[in-house]
Amino acid sequence: MGYKVIARKYRPQTFSEIVGQQHVTRTLANAIGSNRVAHAYIFSGVRGVGKTTTARILAKALNCASGPTADPDNTCDSCREISAGTSLDVLEIDAASNRGIDQIRELREMVRYAPASSRYKVVILDEAHQLTDEASNALLKTLEEPPERVVFILATTQAEDLADTIKSRAQLFQFRSLTFKEIAEEIERIAREENLTIEPGAVAVLARAAEGSLRDGLSLLEQAISYSEDTVTDAQVRELLGVVAENVLDDLVEAIATQSSERALGLVHRLIGDGQNLQHFCREAIRHFRNLLVARVCGASSELVAAPSEEQERLSEQAAKFSEEDLTRFFNILLATDDDLRKKPDPRLHLELGLLKLVNAQRLAPLEEILADLRGSGTPAKSAPSSSGGAPRAMSAAQSASATGHPAVTVARDTPKSSAVAAPGATIPPARTASPASSAPIPASPPRIIARAAGDATGGLASAQVEAIKAALQGQKFLWSMVEHATRWEIEGGELHLFFPTESRSLAEMLQARDPMERLRTVLNQVVGEPLRVCVKLESGRASVPRSSELRARFEEDPIVRAMLERFGGQISKVKRPGEE
Ligand SMILES: Nc1ncnc2c1ncn2[C@@H]1O[C@H](COP(=O)(O)OP(=O)(O)OP(=O)(O)O)[C@@H](O)[C@H]1O
Ligand SMILES: [Mg+2]
Ligand SMILES: [Zn+2]
Repeated sequence: MGYKVIARKYRPQTFSEIVGQQHVTRTLANAIGSNRVAHAYIFSGVRGVGKTTTARILAKALNCASGPTADPDNTCDSCREISAGTSLDVLEIDAASNRGIDQIRELREMVRYAPASSRYKVVILDEAHQLTDEASNALLKTLEEPPERVVFILATTQAEDLADTIKSRAQLFQFRSLTFKEIAEEIERIAREENLTIEPGAVAVLARAAEGSLRDGLSLLEQAISYSEDTVTDAQVRELLGVVAENVLDDLVEAIATQSSERALGLVHRLIGDGQNLQHFCREAIRHFRNLLVARVCGASSELVAAPSEEQERLSEQAAKFSEEDLTRFFNILLATDDDLRKKPDPRLHLELGLLKLVNAQRLAPLEEILADLRGSGTPAKSAPSSSGGAPRAMSAAQSASATGHPAVTVARDTPKSSAVAAPGATIPPARTASPASSAPIPASPPRIIARAAGDATGGLASAQVEAIKAALQGQKFLWSMVEHATRWEIEGGELHLFFPTESRSLAEMLQARDPMERLRTVLNQVVGEPLRVCVKLESGRASVPRSSELRARFEEDPIVRAMLERFGGQISKVKRPGEE
């Protein structure tokens, strides 16, 4: 039977069919056209965005009987063999299962001989970051003396884990996550070709759940098809994926807008009654509030809004009920709640607490202002735009309250029984002005700029620049709500490197979209006086984490923490990293 899973059946066969990676495909096509193909490429990007597909098309382009050509014919023997995976000159190796040195030795033997019947041997090394050190050394030797007419393509979801020596010998292409719109359009196109009726709401649910990966989007479509009869409906897809109905989210928005704790708690009750997974609900709420925040900042028609155009009006209406500050705060409270739901027992309790915080969040402004004041008196004046008054500073204090990646400080007060852990989303004992259910934010953590290696002459200059950049970004709430989660900032060779903790992956991805990236570059240009490239990275698990004593020292020196301690009369009793018990 000719049945093929959708993702395979619709795997692009030419560069022009690849969605959303024009920056890669155009460069490759040009390189082929001008006969400047590199010996080694790194294709980096999250799962299911076209890395392997592009590698195979490159192989075809190089070896096509009518080539080398950027437009392989897909009909000659070579093209067909490559499509079928039977070409002797195109080796696909999964480094995850062939991590060993032996395979790489074998590979080196293999590439020593000229291609059997083609122009090039192409080696596609999938999940290349999984190679053992030994194997990657062996690979390095090959790359150091690249054999004639061999092209290596290392595909990886974690380029930062590749050895620097390998990286420096290869040309790097960063594949980006696909947007909601790109995924939704592909799902619609394929549904049409399959003669399938699918409701627009169902497309939206699938495209959102794909979270930037087209392959995931297509596999979900596949599941939805086998779950449905002739029409794939919105309701069926929600049921299949355990996605809450949109009206539950509308209810949440109403509860917050009317500051009704009762309604918020009723909602949790209803979710439990319906057997919904509370964590799912929280994730959905995060998506929804992210959309509202983006709609508020960039307008509901922005391509950054992950919603179909039919929903734009509803999003605009809801976004208009709140200020940008409120929405950012809601977003952060939900992120912290999600964290709690994941790590702690009793999801019901944590969801209820989270929703109560949302309902009360708008009343927290006074306390935030105190903290913003402290921040102002403790650090040199920031270059926040004066037109918006104290707001940006208040914001940065509020936002960092629940920044998931920041270490937490335990502030023990002199009075008994009132110590609190200012962990993400947790509470500091109510100050005079705060309402009972308040969650008081702690101010930004101490500067986390780590000057480059000691002895680096530019370290001081770079860190001063980083501080200036941060100060300028704090005036741009939308950008700041993303970049503040970066745990490491480094300037090196005309590039700003921003490292995000892996749990902030979605923020890091969001930052890479065109709109925020352009805004970010504009700010950098203004501050530094020349264009800086921006490189967004995820911290690999092995990144060095400061020891507790170093963390404590940093906190002790931090002007904001010091001011807080004075104001509230406390002392630092314990410094913890996020997630630490
Ligand atoms: N950019 C894209 N354009 C068109 N289709 C795509 C794209 N990305 C993924 N797909 C679809 O998803 C399937 C899987 O893509 P591919 O194998 O290239 O992903 P990948 O990036 O190599 O993922 P992984 O990191 O999991 O190996 C393809 O067969 C295709 O149907
Ligand atoms: Mg792949
Ligand atoms: Zn061909």
